[in-house]
Amino acid sequence: MALVSEASEVLCCLVASQDLVHEPFGGVVPEIASRNHTSNILPLIDEALTSQNISWDQILGIAVTNRPGLVGSLIVGLVTAKTLALSKNVPFVGVHHIKGHIMAPFVSDEDYKGPGWHNEPFLALVVSGGHSQIYSVEKGEFKVLGSTIDDAAGEAFDKFAKMVGLPYPGGVQVDRLSVKGDPKAFQFPKPMIREAHLNFSFSGLKSAAQRLIEKMSLDEIELRKADLCASYQATVVEVLITKLRKAQEQTGLQNIVVSGGVSANSLLRAKAQELAKDKGCEIALPPLRYCTDNGAMIARAGLEDILNGQVSAHDLGPSPRSEI
Ligand code: KG4
Ligand code: ZN
Repeated sequence: MALVSEASEVLCCLVASQDLVHEPFGGVVPEIASRNHTSNILPLIDEALTSQNISWDQILGIAVTNRPGLVGSLIVGLVTAKTLALSKNVPFVGVHHIKGHIMAPFVSDEDYKGPGWHNEPFLALVVSGGHSQIYSVEKGEFKVLGSTIDDAAGEAFDKFAKMVGLPYPGGVQVDRLSVKGDPKAFQFPKPMIREAHLNFSFSGLKSAAQRLIEKMSLDEIELRKADLCASYQATVVEVLITKLRKAQEQTGLQNIVVSGGVSANSLLRAKAQELAKDKGCEIALPPLRYCTDNGAMIARAGLEDILNGQVSAHDLGPSPRSEI
């Protein structure tokens, strides 16, 4: 839940994280997720408005995620947005979750100023728990140039973290431990890395890690955990950066966005900056608070539609469709 001004300034951004609720299950339980959304959503909206001293007559519109995602959770957000839109007499617009991630760097707040080139063509690497794609973005058109053919990058991190006994969601834990490990200690496969196309795959890497870990004793895993994490992380990042490099070379685009939950990864951030420097490109990486799921990115992605009057009809439903 976020309040974002017409000038894309984030006035407040509140996150009701459910990480601790789902942690015992090792992943998101859809039914529990939507029940928690139901109890969290209205208090969070009240808190945001009250903290900023903003009344409903100052709200130009409501942006809400309607696709793709867990349908139960989408319904909670959508029904709340539609009900508020009707009762407060404001327009609402359904937003694609991935468009939200792609627009995340184009906000600003007290500690972060986004780049000014959101109207120019750019390349976007979006890496989250459910999606991993490379897009070219031009004049509001989002074209998929490449995609994972199996697991998303975040999923690859989370499943690996589980194998080495780290708690859910494991991506950030792997990142933290990797700092103490040797990225060259173990060799993992990098499927499709040499091919010219921009698709990639993580399931072979995950199976190779599984086979390696199965052969190790619990003591050995504990002892080598940092090396395992560092080697695995380096492989995932190398695959992503190699494909992003090819995408830049193939399109010649000079502006790059890297976003989504996995863009919080410290090695990916460092390597993406290196790539941009090497190619003389501008890079936009959202600050960590706008990498993982948040309301500000959804508000930002819906802002132009609201300002242009391109709002949604009240029969808009949730959708599993992945095209933006
Ligand atoms: O975008 P996001 O918050 O939710 C989805 O749309 O899926 O992404 C969540 C994913 C999780 O898989 C999480 O482990 C991963 O982002 N993640 C990270 C890091 N922080 C979050 N993966 C690697 N390194 C991190 N520092
Ligand atoms: Zn996300």
